[in-house]
Parts: sequence; structure tokens; C-alpha cells
Amino acid sequence: MNNGRMTLAKIQLNKEAGEKIVMVTAYDYCGARFAEVAGVDMILVGDSLGMTVMGCDNTLSVGMDIMVHHTRAVVRGCTNPLVVADMPFLSYQVTPEEALKNAGRLIQEAGAQAVKVEGGREIVDTVKKIVQAGIPVIGHLGFTPQSVHQIGLRLQGKTGETAAKILNDAKALQEAGVFAIVLELVPCEVAGEISNILSIPTIGIGSGPDCDGQVQVFHDMLGLSEKSYRHVKRYADLGDQIRNAIASYAADVRGAGFPSEAQSRHIDQNELIEFRRLVKEGGNAD
Ligand code: KIV
Repeated sequence: MNNGRMTLAKIQLNKEAGEKIVMVTAYDYCGARFAEVAGVDMILVGDSLGMTVMGCDNTLSVGMDIMVHHTRAVVRGCTNPLVVADMPFLSYQVTPEEALKNAGRLIQEAGAQAVKVEGGREIVDTVKKIVQAGIPVIGHLGFTPQSVHQIGLRLQGKTGETAAKILNDAKALQEAGVFAIVLELVPCEVAGEISNILSIPTIGIGSGPDCDGQVQVFHDMLGLSEKSYRHVKRYADLGDQIRNAIASYAADVRGAGFPSEAQSRHIDQNELIEFRRLVKEGGNAD
């Protein structure tokens, strides 16, 4: 069903009405079709594709061209959810001008409706520059995967002081004009209080039930990745189903069970006789 593209205004209304916002990652046309038909509000073309699609250890090797390529495929697959493209490592940290150009590519070349950036007060000028050009921005605080070598893959904001820092970063991002903030791996209580204090929505991942919405990584929630994390709920074990299906296919091919009559096409009997006659004569009809 085509309900028309999700808007920033509707997402803000969801926060005000206490209606949870649903976001999932997708990296290609097929994933975007599934997410659209399932009725999600937003799709994130996450740089997590470095791990889920490319098999890297982290997001750091994902660059702009890769993000543009995957975002294009996702945009082709959906008309209803708002498509948010991650700005990859070093695409927005160097200068605000370069950040704006790169954000512009994700909108103009790839067709996303918004971009996401990681970081707090240190990226406020960059966020303002992008927002002032008319590009919607989502912030990302708590565990920020592009800083994995600095902060480690662990819960952030466990002390009063670090929790207050996340809140202050969130306020600064809100002030700079982001329309939502992803809170990743933040204690539930802290994420809940930040969500109450901010006027814009928070989208949690591993940050408890009191965020205004949730985001999950497609491959994790569907059982397509081999790693499992505490903050992930597996809604399907598609990995098992896919492995079993490919093993059945292999067994069928090896045991002459595939293709069967149902997957085969035939030539007319008279044409077959003619074909065999030509083969006998040397195989050349010309
Ligand atoms: O890249 C990604 O998928 C993300 C989510 C984990 C929020 O940033």
C-alpha cells in the first residue's frame, strides 16, 4: 500500500502522541521491500553494512561511494518509510563544508531523505551546516561505532557524569537542528530520562523500552548474522532456513532431484526429429 513517504512532522507527532517509532536497517532493494511491506516508519541504510554485507570487523572501511550505492538500492525498494543514510567515517569529521557536500550526495545522487551522523557537541557546527542546507539530520550518541577503537564496544553513560555528558550532547544536537537522536547502548534509565527531557524523538538500540522508537539491524533480528548481541531480539531464524534450503538444493542437484519435470521445458517432437537429423548431418542449419 502506498501511504506516501513518512515525514519529519509525522515522526515528531508520533513522539508527542506517545506512539513508538519503528526503524530497521536495510542495505538493498530486497530488504527495503520487506521493510516497506511490514510497515516500518523509517529505514536506516546503516554503515553497519560494513559488517553485515561486507564481512568487515567494524564500520570504519565503509566510504561514501559504498553508502551511495546501497542507499540507491534501498530507495528503489520503498515509497513509504523515510530513508535515512548513514554518513560514513571521515565523510563529515574533516570540515563542515565537506560534510555538506557528502550529505548532499546521499540526498541528490542516492535519493535518501535524511542523513545520520555520530557525535555530540564536537559536531554541532557540522550539523548546523547540513540542516541549514535543508537536509534532515539524525544524531547518534552513546556507543558510536565509528569510535570503536577509542571507546570499545560497551555500554556508555554508566556513571552519573558520563550519563550527564550524553544528555548535554543530546541537548546540543537538538539545539543544532537534528530531528531525532539514536541512543545506542545507553542504560535504560538514562535513555528514558533523556527521552523525557528532549522535545525531539529518541530512537533506541540496546537502550531500553523508554526511548520514543527503536532501531534494529536487519541481519541481527532475522537471524542472518552469526554473532548475537544481548540487545537483539531474534524475530526469525532465517539463517537456519537459508542454510537448510541451500543444502536441500545441493542434495537435489547431486541426487538428480532438481530440476524435475516441473522446472523443465520441451521442444516439439517434429522439431526434435529435425534437430537430430541436422546433428547427424553435421549440426549446421545455415
Ligand atoms: O549502522 C547502523 O546500523 C547503525 C545502527 C546500529 C543504529 O548506526
